[in-house]
Amino acid sequence: MYTHLVPKRILNKGDEIPCIGFGTFGSDSVPPASVAEAVKKAIYAGYRHLDCASVYGNEKNIGYVLKELFESGFLERKDLWITSKVWNDMHDYVEESCRQSLADLQIDYLDLYLVHWPFPNYHPPECDVTARSPNAKPFIHENYIKTWRQMERLVDNGLVKNIGTSNMTIPKLNLLLKDAKIKPACNEMELHPHFQQPELFKFCLKNNIQPIAYCPLGSPGRPERDRTPDDTVDLEDEVLISIAERLKITPAEVALKWAIQRGQIPIPFSINHFLENLFAATSFDLTAKDMIDISKIDKNCRLIKGQVFLWKENQSWEDLWDLNGEIVS
Ligand SMILES: NC(=O)c1ccc[n+]([C@@H]2O[C@H](COP(=O)([O-])OP(=O)(O)OC[C@H]3O[C@@H](n4cnc5c(N)ncnc54)[C@H](OP(=O)(O)O)[C@@H]3O)[C@@H](O)[C@H]2O)c1
Repeated sequence: MYTHLVPKRILNKGDEIPCIGFGTFGSDSVPPASVAEAVKKAIYAGYRHLDCASVYGNEKNIGYVLKELFESGFLERKDLWITSKVWNDMHDYVEESCRQSLADLQIDYLDLYLVHWPFPNYHPPECDVTARSPNAKPFIHENYIKTWRQMERLVDNGLVKNIGTSNMTIPKLNLLLKDAKIKPACNEMELHPHFQQPELFKFCLKNNIQPIAYCPLGSPGRPERDRTPDDTVDLEDEVLISIAERLKITPAEVALKWAIQRGQIPIPFSINHFLENLFAATSFDLTAKDMIDISKIDKNCRLIKGQVFLWKENQSWEDLWDLNGEIVS
């Protein structure tokens, strides 16, 4: 039981969040019941932070596990940090979506609720990257703020303790920070040694927004549709391998420890390696030199490009990420 060894981070309203979470997206290949079984084992092992989302299609299965664990007396609701997210087709129905997640997970509040993507453009699960929503729109701040006001109401009426964003950029966050009554506590973003997003990462820390790192291992099990020939493989990086050999651990453990020491909260998904990953959060330290060496292996290699959110013909996925510092419309 490693629970008491897992460090915590303090969010902008004072809540404490465990510095490693358990991802629950089965990447279209791990069925919902198997993800739920992994969640159960992970909680028994000591994980106390779950990263859920309605679109992962397994909140009901995870809910059965949570109910069983709470009823068994193994732990109480207050001992777990549970995140969920509103999907793109529900930006106008945030409370309905949140209540559905709560019902499915069989809990009466969420610790953190995120707007999963800043675009309201629905696409069906498991669709190809060429799929486009017929009503696709760009990011429109006025619309996003309408969604955010609904998020704020969830906090006001006690359904959710903290709210946050995901897949945002600096210009989008600047607008949100200007108009939000409740500032985002976290931004969930792709972060791994080959994709370090240094500007956005620093921006988040400066504005008291905790970065949560998805694909912290470079998502080796991601669906085929999210693979391109130019993608690099974090876990085969020579710098990670040489640090791992010196410390007699694995490159994955090095990547996770780097994430935690840098200040982001990794949420690795794992059926087979979850103990190893928890070990990385609770033992050994990387040296200052290791941290510098890893900072130099950034390859700006975004894996989750988000093509399905594009809203016009002949666009490229870079348009989603405001690379010139301005929102592309
Ligand atoms: N907000 C968003 O838009 C967004 C987007 C993507 C993901 N997420 C969240 O982030 C979580 C993590 O992302 P991800 O699952 O794509 O990527 P990931 O955590 O980087 O990679 C998971 C894969 O790595 C393998 N793995 C785990 N630990 C390992 C280890 N120690 N050594 C070798 N392989 C290991 C797993 O295999 P085994 O199962 O065999 O261990 C699995 O195939 C998701 O589950 C989801 O909760 C959020």
